[in-house]
Amino acid sequence: MGLFSSATQRVPEVFAAPRHIAVIMDGNGRWARKRFLPRIAGHKRGVETVRELVKQCVKLNVEYLTLFAFSSENWRRPAEEVSFLMGLFMDALDREVVKLHQNNIKLIMIGDRTHFDAKLIAKIEASELLTANNSGLVLTIAANYGGRWDILQAVNKMYTVQPQLAGQYKEEDFQPYLSMSYAPEPDLFIRTGGETRISNFLLWQLAYTNSISPILADFNEEAFNLAIQSYGKRERRFGRTSEQLKKPEA
Ligand code: IPE
Ligand code: IPE
Ligand code: MG
Repeated sequence: MGLFSSATQRVPEVFAAPRHIAVIMDGNGRWARKRFLPRIAGHKRGVETVRELVKQCVKLNVEYLTLFAFSSENWRRPAEEVSFLMGLFMDALDREVVKLHQNNIKLIMIGDRTHFDAKLIAKIEASELLTANNSGLVLTIAANYGGRWDILQAVNKMYTVQPQLAGQYKEEDFQPYLSMSYAPEPDLFIRTGGETRISNFLLWQLAYTNSISPILADFNEEAFNLAIQSYGKRERRFGRTSEQLKKPEA
């Protein structure tokens, strides 16, 4: 397939590619404003950026790519913009899912989908079903997603399933109920557009993730490789000191 080359072109040897990259696809409006275009032109351009990002992740053998496409707070935008975004989402599924499937990509949506139009829900379900057994990149789209919503729905499920443990829940009891329990925590968090906020994205899972922000909305292969290289140079200490990481645990 032309679109997503299966050839594995790794970044220079010394840099380990992250297993899981989480991205807030932001800055569409600013991209458009700079060019005297309507915001919706920026959103269309955002879809192109997603295609490029998926392509790069496949190339680098990244296992999980998680994209924040629409937050639970984005309903507060003008009605026309929300409805344009929903239409764009439908069109993108129509146009891209077969290609994703041909490239062995598994598509999963996280977020409260019950608020979407019935047609969109059906399309999401069909796309997930079609790609469910694929073994390549796991592409997660967070739509009507909020990190706080995720934590609360997990707490409620955990309490329903294991009420006898109330008052003694541990992290390991809780994690399986989160929307992304199928994936390791993100290694790299990218927010395009230059902001550094988490904006209610994966709150629990980003606790130790390295973040990179100054990538512009017109994201390209070079910017992506720079992000990966910068990730490869950082030390993840998880509360320890740098010296401890160099010595094997006592
Ligand atoms: C992100 O771009 C797209 C969505 C939130 C759906 P924005 O629309 O937030 O663009 P800016 O931040 O206004 O530039
Ligand atoms: C975050 O972007 C959500 C998505 C990109 C889907 P926003 O543009 O909505 O975030 P804020 O309002 O700048 O925090
Ligand atoms: Mg924004």
